[in-house]
Amino acid sequence: MTRTVYVNGEYLPETEAKVSIFDRGFLFADGVYEVTSVLDGKLIDFAGHAKRLERSLGELEMPAPCTMEELLAIHREMVARNGLVDGLIYLQVTRGAPADRDFAYPDAGTEPTIVLFTQSKPGLADSPVAKSGIRVITVPDQRWGRRDIKTVQLLYPSMAKMMAKAAGADDAWMVEDGSVTEGTSNNAYIVKDGAIVTRHLSTDILHGITRAAVLRFAREAQMRVEERAFTAEEAQAADEAFVTSASAFVMPVVEIDGQAIGSGRPGPVAARLREIYLEESRLTAV
Ligand code: PDD
Repeated sequence: MTRTVYVNGEYLPETEAKVSIFDRGFLFADGVYEVTSVLDGKLIDFAGHAKRLERSLGELEMPAPCTMEELLAIHREMVARNGLVDGLIYLQVTRGAPADRDFAYPDAGTEPTIVLFTQSKPGLADSPVAKSGIRVITVPDQRWGRRDIKTVQLLYPSMAKMMAKAAGADDAWMVEDGSVTEGTSNNAYIVKDGAIVTRHLSTDILHGITRAAVLRFAREAQMRVEERAFTAEEAQAADEAFVTSASAFVMPVVEIDGQAIGSGRPGPVAARLREIYLEESRLTAV
């Protein structure tokens, strides 16, 4: 089925949508993005994603293509036009397409480029993988130093994903100065003696929208949360491990570098957090 996508104010069949070869997203990875999940035709945590988009734009002094209210209306229209029930909406904003390639930012008059498309994922919340868990390897974190900005510079995370595949694993956790930063496209956690441990916020990691919600729900449920760095060795000796993201929600990790975590099966804390997260976020979906 041909999707309807959104490009710079127009809803078009995906085969007719075009972006200039001079677009700075294409030439310089000068763009930011958001991925919002849709369950039962409703957007999960849209306000969180809109807020982070504004922050990413602000950090890069990139103009916003529209107001956040307009952005919500476009997201909803995309759900409606594509008949999206369960899946994802990808949004990308770039610094636009000046007349030629130039390292310097273009004039303020250059219109930003905005693109949205949907990805249908029937049964997204009932993924069988959540019952079996995923296996990860560790790789050095070789990304740039502003990982808190959600830019489209995703080459290293793609390389890390391929290293994981080559090793027969599902994903990679990146390690810097002896500590785990995050997964290729998710935040990383361990559970030890009932405490949920995840790296503190800084420019070293993306400030996950799912992370913020999961930690809030965990604290509300009187679970102990420690926001601090942890090593791969500590993770291998943990009772449980898991990752969070808008596309995977809460996903158990059952093996790190070939070492089974805890029982080698998804643990009760990850399962409970997944349940609470899905339940609570459906209530506030728009
Ligand atoms: N990735 N860390 C990184 C490096 C990410 O790319 C992502 C999201 C996360 C989790 O953030 P959130 O909970 O807001 O989705 C953490 C998206 C899903 C992607 O690139 O497809």
